[in-house]
Amino acid sequence: MSNIADIAKALVSPGKGILAADESAPTIEKRFKSIQVSSTEESRRNYRELLFRAAGLGQFISGVILFDETIRQRATDGTPLTELLQRQGIIPGIKVDAGTSPLALFPGDKITEGLDKLRNRFAEYSGLGAQFSKWRAVITIGDGIPSPYCLEANAHALARFAALSQEMGLVPIVEPEVLMDGPHTIERCEEVTATALAAVFQALTAHRVRFESMLLKPNMVVSGKECPRQAGPGEVAEATLRCLKRFVPAAVPGMVFLSGGMSDVDATKNLNAMNQLGGAPWELSFSFGRALQAPALRAWAGKAGNAAAAQQALLHRARCNQAARFGRYDHTIEQNG
Ligand code: 13P
Repeated sequence: MSNIADIAKALVSPGKGILAADESAPTIEKRFKSIQVSSTEESRRNYRELLFRAAGLGQFISGVILFDETIRQRATDGTPLTELLQRQGIIPGIKVDAGTSPLALFPGDKITEGLDKLRNRFAEYSGLGAQFSKWRAVITIGDGIPSPYCLEANAHALARFAALSQEMGLVPIVEPEVLMDGPHTIERCEEVTATALAAVFQALTAHRVRFESMLLKPNMVVSGKECPRQAGPGEVAEATLRCLKRFVPAAVPGMVFLSGGMSDVDATKNLNAMNQLGGAPWELSFSFGRALQAPALRAWAGKAGNAAAAQQALLHRARCNQAARFGRYDHTIEQNG
């Protein structure tokens, strides 16, 4: 596949979605701590190797987002981890942002870093087999935040990233994540998501990004984690699609939702509800990190002897999300797989 528009389409092929396994060193350390495993180059490799070796993963997963360390790593038998993915028909991708920092003079707002020398890094990642890339902007809802400047600065960085990625032949996944943290209502989440998306697409247009050759990784429009009224899947689906339809051009091939700290089952239920509603001009897919990995991580618990159980747990969540891609997820699939 040489045309990046074809790669973008392949990443959202019907029934398939993306596994986000691109946790940075501090994030994977936090995840491992929850299962009392220390994070070393070897433990990170062992864990990711077992995920990528799960037999049949390619039926459900179109692409995997990798972290800088992982794209360079080899499996225990010397095979590059990217090759394990390619053997399963899975497209390797790479997270290229360098994480967030406080936005100077805007207390509470964050800006994503990593644009310096990014063209050179893209060339290297392309040589290592990456065919798509991801950049995550983080937008926090709070008292007086996000500021309009935070949205503008993050949209600008996302657009610079996306343009460079396309120039270098990798499909950009543009991720403006409005966080779920806080007591805000679903209405406030919709309002902030709308403003963020409007800024992002204005910047992408100004930077000549081709919509056919990118994917959007949006948050779902949900109630804040500490909001007393938690919206159910039907309401989340309606609010999310209403918001996206207002701001996202139909030329973008797909929405690959993040899970953002929702439970794995909630993420699947919400995705299912969106696909049941139908009528969207894009594929409604997933690019889940925690919502695909959480049960596998628990089953593994750092022990090689648990690898098969961890792989089954990953395949189960992948199968459930495949069903949700078709709006066919239900209790029976959750119970029996
Ligand atoms: P979560 O699904 O755990 O939010 O991770 C997705 C991701 O890649 C965030 O950048």
